[in-house]
Amino acid sequence: MKPSGKNLDYLIVQALRDDSGYFSGEELASKLGISRQALWKHISNLTDRGYDITAVPHRGYKLVSSPDKFYPEEVKYKLGTKFLATQVYYYDAVDSTQKIAWQLGLEGAPEGTIVFTETQSKGRGRLERKWISPAGGIYFSLLLRPKSLLLSEITQISLIISLACLKGIKETTGIDCQVKWPNDILVSGKKLGGVLCEINAEADRVLFLIAGVGININSKDLPSGATSLHLYAKKKFRRLDITQEIIRQIEAAYLKVQQGESGELLAEWSKSCILWGKHLELKLSGKIIEGTAVNIDDKGYLILRVDNGTQHKVSAGDIVKVRSCR
Ligand code: BTN
Repeated sequence: MKPSGKNLDYLIVQALRDDSGYFSGEELASKLGISRQALWKHISNLTDRGYDITAVPHRGYKLVSSPDKFYPEEVKYKLGTKFLATQVYYYDAVDSTQKIAWQLGLEGAPEGTIVFTETQSKGRGRLERKWISPAGGIYFSLLLRPKSLLLSEITQISLIISLACLKGIKETTGIDCQVKWPNDILVSGKKLGGVLCEINAEADRVLFLIAGVGININSKDLPSGATSLHLYAKKKFRRLDITQEIIRQIEAAYLKVQQGESGELLAEWSKSCILWGKHLELKLSGKIIEGTAVNIDDKGYLILRVDNGTQHKVSAGDIVKVRSCR
């Protein structure tokens, strides 16, 4: 059967990538079983999608660079994961990737399915906040079906995903970021990104979980208090490299959590958290509690020491509002 449409575009990119020099148009067309004219059309389509392909008479085509877009074939290229991103959906613009991934979850999409977009018109943050999503950021929602975790144990997923983001950023850019319980990613005290976990559960059984990740990479127009890697480091970054490393880190961490080995990861997360020893005011289902942030426990719950000396444990799901630290 002949490959068709986008699939063919992908095969062309693959063939050009495998060949560091020029690939003769005639050979490439015959390899794909299409005419040279059809090949030219596909090359022109790829150019429109941001691929830089030079065509030199008598020599052929050469791939100079690929775009920094979350095209499924780019996300999967040399990714090397077992199950994460085996299915990738890509959009130029959507209201929220959470909504799309949720629908895919209901339709039975496999664990590891990811939905990417370049911009969102109704990006959602925690606590019903808006997530401003201009071009230049990383925005994706990931479908997970954690078999071994109960609803009460899900807080740690949010934490290990934010840790995976930290590691992915450090590995690819060298920049050290921090976390703030439960889901903030910070750089030099400003909000760089966040993780939003939405859960579809039946009693205490988790049917699926949608983990949404938003990180400001090359974006400039951001709300006050927020920053991007570009604003912080005064240079642009390749989002795909960062994203691929984050995906690898999420998969490795998630597999550990599923095997009941989240201890080391939570300890690592705790080392990067900026809250310890700070005074917090939390709104828990309508009641305000104040105290000093001590650490997290083995489920990822926040341990808060209140003024009379007693300790409260708070799950991410409990919080309605977190006041800034004094
Ligand atoms: C937060 O810090 O409040 C969490 C922000 C999560 C934003 C991401 S962007 C991709 C996904 N789609 C959404 O609408 N939200 C999440």
